[in-house]
Amino acid sequence: MSQRAYFITGTDTGVGKTLVGAALLHAANAQGWSTIGLKPVAAGGTHHDGVFMNEDACLLQATASIELDYAAVNPAALADAIAPHIAAERDGRTLNAAELATHCRHQLATSGAEFAVAEGAGGWLVPLDARTTMADLATSLGWPVILVVAMRLGCLNHALLTARAIEAAGLALAGWVANVTGEQMAAEAANLATLDNWLPAPRLGCIRQLGPDPQPADAAGYLDLSLLPELAG
Ligand SMILES: Nc1ncnc2c1ncn2[C@@H]1O[C@H](COP(=O)(O)OP(=O)(O)OP(=O)(O)O)[C@@H](O)[C@H]1O
Ligand SMILES: [Mg+2]
Repeated sequence: MSQRAYFITGTDTGVGKTLVGAALLHAANAQGWSTIGLKPVAAGGTHHDGVFMNEDACLLQATASIELDYAAVNPAALADAIAPHIAAERDGRTLNAAELATHCRHQLATSGAEFAVAEGAGGWLVPLDARTTMADLATSLGWPVILVVAMRLGCLNHALLTARAIEAAGLALAGWVANVTGEQMAAEAANLATLDNWLPAPRLGCIRQLGPDPQPADAAGYLDLSLLPELAG
C-alpha cells in the first residue's frame, strides 16, 4: 500500500481528536499497515525521566506501530496547557507553521509509514502566532483532513463552519467522525442525519460514550477506515 496521511481537526478542544487519531492508528495497525502518529504542537505536559511530554503525543506515539522518538512525534512541546501562541510566547519560542509541516512530511518520508495521522491542537483556526493559525500548518501540510465532531448542542454550527474553512483552504475533507463524549444529546439521530446531509465527506463512524478511561481499541470498533475515499475499493 502507498502512504496515506491525514490531519485530524475537531469542532473544538476536548472533542476527541486524540482518541480518534489513536483509534485510526489502531484500525490501521489491525490492517497490517505501518503507522505513525504526530502531534506537531502540544500545550501542557509533564516530565518523564527528565523529558517534557504531552499526553496526546504519548498516546499517539504508543499506539503507532513504528517507534518514533518523542521529539519526532511532538516537535513543539509547550509548557502551559493554554492557547498555543500564548504558551509559545511564555516559553520564549515561535511556532512556524511551514517548518512544523515540513517536520511532519519528513517524519512520513523517513519512517516509510503506510498510514499517518497528525493531530492539530484545539480547533481549526487556533492561532500559532499573531498572523498564522493551525489552518496554515494544515494547509502547508496538504494532507486530507478528518474532522472530529463532539455530539453536543452547537455542534452543527461548529462542524459546518469548520468544513467550510477546510474547503476554503483548498484542502480535502476526507471524512468526519461523530464522537459522543458525554451524555447522549437530545435528538442525536436527527443531528447525525443533519451532519450526514451537510458535511461533504463520509461519516467514518459514531463513537459511543466509552466511560472514564476510553481506549483506542474500543473507539476503533466504531470506525470504518475503508470509508476514507483514498482507501475505498
Ligand atoms: N467517546 C468517548 N467516551 C468517553 N470519553 C471520551 C470519548 N471521547 C473522548 N473522551 C475523553 O474526553 C477527553 C477529551 O478527548 P481528547 O483528548 O481525545 O480530545 P482532543 O480533541 O484531542 O482534545 P485537545 O484539544 O486537548 O487535544 C479525554 O479525556 C478523552 O478520554
Ligand atoms: Mg488531543
